[in-house]
Amino acid sequence: KKSEAWSALFSEPMSELVKRYTASVFFDQRLWRADIEGSLAHAEMLAAQGVISADDHAAIQRGMATITQEIESGAFEWKLDLEDVHLNIEARLTQLIGDAGKRLHTGRSRNDQVATDVRLWLRGEIDLIGGLLTDLQKALVDIAEKNAEVILPGFTHLQVAQPVSFGHHMLAYVEMFARDAERFADVRRRTNRLPLGAAALAGTSYPLDRERVARTLGMDGVCQNSLDAVSDRDFAIEFTAAASLAMVHVSRLSEELILWMSQSFGFIDIADRFCTGSSIMPQKKNPDVPELARGKTGRVVGHLMGLITLMKGQPLAYNKDNQEDKEPLFDTVDTLKDTLRIFAEMVGGITVKPEAMERAALKGYATATDLADYLVKQGLPFRDAHEVVAHAVKTAIGLGVDLSELPLATLQGFSPKVGEDVYEVLSLRGSLNARNILGGTAPAQVRAQVARHRARLG
Ligand code: ARG
Repeated sequence: KKSEAWSALFSEPMSELVKRYTASVFFDQRLWRADIEGSLAHAEMLAAQGVISADDHAAIQRGMATITQEIESGAFEWKLDLEDVHLNIEARLTQLIGDAGKRLHTGRSRNDQVATDVRLWLRGEIDLIGGLLTDLQKALVDIAEKNAEVILPGFTHLQVAQPVSFGHHMLAYVEMFARDAERFADVRRRTNRLPLGAAALAGTSYPLDRERVARTLGMDGVCQNSLDAVSDRDFAIEFTAAASLAMVHVSRLSEELILWMSQSFGFIDIADRFCTGSSIMPQKKNPDVPELARGKTGRVVGHLMGLITLMKGQPLAYNKDNQEDKEPLFDTVDTLKDTLRIFAEMVGGITVKPEAMERAALKGYATATDLADYLVKQGLPFRDAHEVVAHAVKTAIGLGVDLSELPLATLQGFSPKVGEDVYEVLSLRGSLNARNILGGTAPAQVRAQVARHRARLG
């Protein structure tokens, strides 16, 4: 069609350069299944409303079955001249079944068609992503349960702060990914609405039954304003925002895995199948997967910026700008899915080194707060206790020992309120067990959270 001209109105064919510039078929062909599904629902409704005949409807069904099989087998010939996935499929349909194929587009425009296709396709992807987020959470819950008793130095400002359970630390990420799953479920509700029936921008004069098409396609309802229906890409933007946040969570986890695997920390190992070596340094094993995930996070956040900027200056209703929604959206989906899949696997391949973690926790006076709390329980005001402990830590640093290694007499020199029972408080394990509060790091709490997550994740 376009190798000629669009219509009798055009006095010359499109230039080859413009043809390539405006075509989207080489990336939007991945919408083909949604395009056919949408067309079949539209045709079924056209027949039910008496807009096309039952014979035409049957022919369209037959033709689409052939096209489905051609695309699946790789026999379908995608043509740049036909611009996009929609025109390619419609042209082939007409080639196969004649005039009935030409009637399919009655009461429809590519504007409401493409908006429908993207929504249908994205809905399916959101469901897949939901499953992958569940897998990743389960993997994290497993490693959390196994390591509920393992003591990790908890950091603030990357300085040793207080001991935490390694399992508790892993469950912090489960909370993040659980919120991500909620966000995607929420985006799905607004994605799963039907634009078809809006036609080019104003609706159509044919007696279309939009609700029927929505039901056929399993959508939650129809878009209620035709202008908005064809020009809204909010769902793509919010999807990419949710994806960016999920990637940011992966990126924070990545940063920790990279640090923990470095020789200076030595807290974990990542299974060899997720690492690479160096072409020059024989001793190297590098955490390439988390590093790449951290890097790819920038790429997804970039797509969010691209999409939201794409929308900011557009007048109503449809503009060709919107064709630019696809590559960032597709790449966001691909990147997020690959990343979640690989992380769900990699988390199971983490080896935890409890001795190294505990040694690091002992180095940083991680139980200083516990000593202050102990003194408060003996009647000292907290601010005074804080000051007393600062002196004790200073002395311990001078002697090059941990607080728990100071003799009782020395500790009593700082405060006569110190008793023999202080050593239980000064131990890492005592500190951990003491934080037995809802949401706290005591192993008992970690196990309770593990049980809650398991019930939630199924
Ligand atoms: N390929 C186009 C897109 O992705 C389809 C809609 C084109 N509509 C139009 N009137 N040019 O947005």
